[in-house]
Order: sequence, then C-alpha cells, then structure tokens
Amino acid sequence: MSDWNFKEIETTIQQEAALLADAKGLEDFRIKYLGRKGLLAQIYAGMGQASPEERPLIGKSANALKVLVEGIVAQKKQSLDGQSRQALTKEKIDVTLPGIHSPLGHQHILTQMIDEICGIFESMGFVVQEGPEIETEFNNFEALNIPVDHPSRDAFDTFYVDTKVVGQKRLLRSHTSPAQIRMMQNHKPPFAVIIPGKVYRPDKVDATHSSMFHQIEGLLVDKDVKFSDLKGLVCVFCQKFFGEKVKMRFRPHFFPFTEPSAEVDIYWKKGWLEIMGCGMVHPKVFAAVDYPKGKYTGLAFGMGIERMVMLKYGINDIRYFFENDVRFLRQF
Ligand code: DAH
Repeated sequence: MSDWNFKEIETTIQQEAALLADAKGLEDFRIKYLGRKGLLAQIYAGMGQASPEERPLIGKSANALKVLVEGIVAQKKQSLDGQSRQALTKEKIDVTLPGIHSPLGHQHILTQMIDEICGIFESMGFVVQEGPEIETEFNNFEALNIPVDHPSRDAFDTFYVDTKVVGQKRLLRSHTSPAQIRMMQNHKPPFAVIIPGKVYRPDKVDATHSSMFHQIEGLLVDKDVKFSDLKGLVCVFCQKFFGEKVKMRFRPHFFPFTEPSAEVDIYWKKGWLEIMGCGMVHPKVFAAVDYPKGKYTGLAFGMGIERMVMLKYGINDIRYFFENDVRFLRQF
C-alpha cells in the first residue's frame, strides 16, 4: 500500500473545514489541497511509483478526497458570500438623509491681497521670493547702511533674539528689506524679485499699530536701471491695484539704503496718503554684498500691506485683521 493515510487526511480536512471563517482562510485551504503543488497533486504525482494493484486504489481514494475538498470549498464560499452580503445590507447608507454641513473657509483678506499684489508684479516679470523672519543684525541694518546710532537699532525698538550665534546678533526682522541682501548675496544680476512677509516692531498695539504686520519688498538689479524705470513700475502698479484713475505723487524722502529715495502717496477720498517707500539702490548696499563698484544699478521699494488694505476697504482698525472674528473675515 502507499504511504498515504487517507483516513487521517480526511479527518484533518474536516477539522480544518470547520474552522474556516473568512475568504482568505478559504483560499489558503483550497491551495493547500487543490493547488498546483497541493496535497492532491503530490498524491497523483506519486502514483507512478505505486504497484499496478495499488494504483487504482490510490486513485479512487484521491478522487474521493478531491470531491470532498471541492465540495467544502464551494459550500463555504457560498456561505461566506452570504455573510458579507448580510453585513453590507446592515451597513446600508440612506443617501437621501440630510448631510452634515461643514462650512467652507477661504483665504484671509491679507493673503488675498498679498497674492494680488505679487500677481501684479509677476505680470511685469518679477519672481516671488521669501526671506527668514529671524535675521542677522548685519542683514537687517549694517548691510542696508543703517548707522549704529539709528534709533531703530535700539533694543527697545527691535525684538532681539536671545541667542548669540558666534558674534552675530539675531532679531525678528523689522522690515522685509534684509531679504534684498540675501537675494543679492546669492544671485548674480539681472533679477527682479518681489518678497512678501511678516515683520515685527515692539509698537504699542492700537487702531493703527500692531507688533506684527506684513510688508512687500521689491528689488530689481541690472545695468543701467533708471529712476524713470522705478516711476513707470510704481505707476503701473498703483493703476492696477487702486484703479486706472488713481492720482499719485512721488515725494522726495530719505532712506539709508536708497539714493535718491521717495515716498509714494495716492490721493484717497479727502487727502494724500503714503503707501510705499522706494528709491535707487545705494552704492553702499552693493558694496555690502561685494558687487563690483559701479557695475550694477537697481531700484527697490517696500510697502505695508495692512495699511493698503485698510485704505482700499475703509477698515479703520488694524486689530480686526488678527482677531479672527469670522464676522469680519467673512466680508472679504
Ligand atoms: N524698509 C522700509 C520700511 O520698513 C520700506 C522701504 C523703503 C523699502 C524704501 C524699500 C525702499 O525697499 O526702497 O520702512
């Protein structure tokens, strides 16, 4: 007789069948017995070695096992399918029931304005860049030709950070202009960039002051850049942002990092209002970033976002922007 104990195999099959509980188990069971390398395949393969008398007996027992396993697989499959169908029916979702409403938000008015302003400059070939909010004292002041005795460098006028990195004092940038320095240090002209971001000043908070607000800085460096380029650029910007008919003027002013410098005013409702500072990049700034003397010229400008948005929409208190009151935010 062969080595196979058919009685024992049958018992094992019955025991295993009783434990089948899911589709994965059933498939493993099927492969174990009926698979290409399964037990029945092994039995059939071994029949060649059996004696002519044994062969039909083995064949008969093997066939019986095959029928048994096939029967179990078919029957279990049916009952498992039935169970999952039942489970599905129980979980049925009534799509006609009213849903749970989740209100859709939108971008903050300041983000919308920053995008709009950057978009206007992008349409004129500028590329949006960013700079870090924690700056070195060098980038925030020295490199921008802001003298040591300038009041804005005072500890009471600036948020200094309490970590001295080998001889370099750090602070929360008081304007976006230090990003100009980073741009120039890391890129060779020509380039034109627009740099939005947060700036910090320890101002007492009231209707027109906030210790954090937003600025947008612009910088264009090339050869032969002229003040007329700056004027043209600023005019186009004001017309696109405030409307074609906007009345504006350039008023001579002083900034340490530009020469000549100007402030730009627009006529709004009943008077002139300052909206940005600008000028031609000071030769000392080019020297601070090691550009060859006299090789490049550039224009720069900087504007405060909150103030422009307040102007445009008639908002009379800067604190509304940061209080997160949806009754305010929803209006824009
Ligand atoms: N950084 C100046 C400020 O915070 C604004 C400014 C003025 C930026 C003139 C400029 C500029 O780039 O050319 O008040």
